[in-house]
Amino acid sequence: MAEHDISDKEKQYFFNTPQQSLPFFLKGSNSYDWGMKNRLARIFNPDSGKTVMLAFDHGYFQGPTTGLERVDVTINPLVPYADALMCTRGILRSVIDPSVQNSVVMRASGGPSILKDLSNEQIAVNVEDALRMNVSAMAVQVFVGGACETQTINNMTRLIDKCNRYGMPVLGVTAVGTELTRDARYIGLAVRILAELGAAVIKTYFVPEFETVVASCPVPVVIAGGKKLPELDALRMARNAIDAGAAGVDMGRNIFQSDAPISMIKAVRKVVHENMSAEHAFEFYQELKNS
Ligand code: R5P
Repeated sequence: MAEHDISDKEKQYFFNTPQQSLPFFLKGSNSYDWGMKNRLARIFNPDSGKTVMLAFDHGYFQGPTTGLERVDVTINPLVPYADALMCTRGILRSVIDPSVQNSVVMRASGGPSILKDLSNEQIAVNVEDALRMNVSAMAVQVFVGGACETQTINNMTRLIDKCNRYGMPVLGVTAVGTELTRDARYIGLAVRILAELGAAVIKTYFVPEFETVVASCPVPVVIAGGKKLPELDALRMARNAIDAGAAGVDMGRNIFQSDAPISMIKAVRKVVHENMSAEHAFEFYQELKNS
């Protein structure tokens, strides 16, 4: 039987205080359900509105990438400094400590290796398995302009339909074939197509005039790091992307191939979350590296 409420304190209903209905902090994300928003808020820091995602999924098509030969040795020490971990289910299950507090963005498309046409991808993980791993978003690659353009768009839209049943965001990744020009016109086209077709977040490459790409994309855009650059250049790229409106970075090689990966990821965090200039972040990186 329920107990009587015997507290002497008067009940308070705050009749004159309307219940607040706060807008969700991420661009274009206000109409999602609670679970979808909660997953996104585990990837993006609600205070800065941004994310530092650590990407180490490269092995899914190129095998033991430089810096990822032993993920347990090279990536695990970086995990505490990342907001989100972008990886495959194979690496997650075999190497990553299940007690980590990071969100996970799971690579969900794959198929061809570097020996074949990379655009010929299929969906590589089902939503139920991603839910079993407590994943916060699933990432699918789309090759706009590639040989298998329609197939990869179809991979993404089918995955979004399945993910929407469970409030699972899909990160659309724009893959750029070597034959295509990486400029704001092409990247803007690809990014917009992925957003129109339902991706909750887009990952793409930074290009000059990136502000036009971000402005014409209705959902958050994060940049991939791309090939290893000198640290100052990589920090400048992150700074320029954030200044152009990017919601963070999904960076791999420029962190794990750095001479001092922990120092580098900490410096990237300063740029992304604390609005530090690239030059100051580089000084910070050098101080940490030499200490
Ligand atoms: C490519 O293998 C993946 O999509 C990576 O997650 C992405 O390219 C980011 O890694 P990086 O910063 O090394 O380009």
